[in-house]
Amino acid sequence: MPWLKGYWGRQFARPHGLGGKIATFVMNRMNTAMYDAVYENISEGGHILDIGFGNGFTLEQLLKIFNGTFYGIDISGDMIRSATKRNRKAIQSGRLTLAEGSADAIPFTQEFDCIYTVNTIYFWPDLDAGFREIRAKLITGGIFLNVFYTKEMLDKLRSADRGYNKYTPEELKKAAEDNGFTAEIIPITEGRSYVVRAVK
Ligand SMILES: C[S@@+](CC[C@H](N)C(=O)[O-])C[C@H]1O[C@@H](n2cnc3c(N)ncnc32)[C@H](O)[C@@H]1O
Repeated sequence: MPWLKGYWGRQFARPHGLGGKIATFVMNRMNTAMYDAVYENISEGGHILDIGFGNGFTLEQLLKIFNGTFYGIDISGDMIRSATKRNRKAIQSGRLTLAEGSADAIPFTQEFDCIYTVNTIYFWPDLDAGFREIRAKLITGGIFLNVFYTKEMLDKLRSADRGYNKYTPEELKKAAEDNGFTAEIIPITEGRSYVVRAVK
């Protein structure tokens, strides 16, 4: 059923309603190795930003195990509500601030020590504009962690047939370097999922 695969593809791109709750629940279970890659490569402390936090699951885990002040942006109003509910205490205590925004328009004025994003790169409307904005919002020496599935892996997924920009690790390393970062590729599962760790 082509409409069904299109429906789920759109739910991963911008989750909303009941379908969004189901999609994010599935993501949280499927993507644990990707979240672990964030925990392993993050620079602890300071100001840390999650771009496209979905239901706020990764932020919830990070708040438990790391020091620092956390921020998050997402383009989906439903995801902001869902992540707010999940992380209410951290928001009330001032350790977490969530806002509507996109990778190429980060609505915070302060600089960040670390910015990370998991499974959002496919949906950025303008790759270079996203990298430029992230670099502008990092301190010198700040780290950007881009965690993603490869083109090779996504080409096998029917739900990713339309609406996904798919990249190889080399393409995303080059995009980071073209925008002024020093970058390295860190495999999570060879051929399938990677982190590009970029330093300003
Ligand atoms: C596949 S989900 C990943 C959610 C979360 N990072 C995770 O791994 O559990 C993609 C998320 O990125 C958000 N998103 C899509 N395009 C975005 C953009 N240009 N800037 C910021 N967030 C975006 C979507 O609304 C959605 O919540």
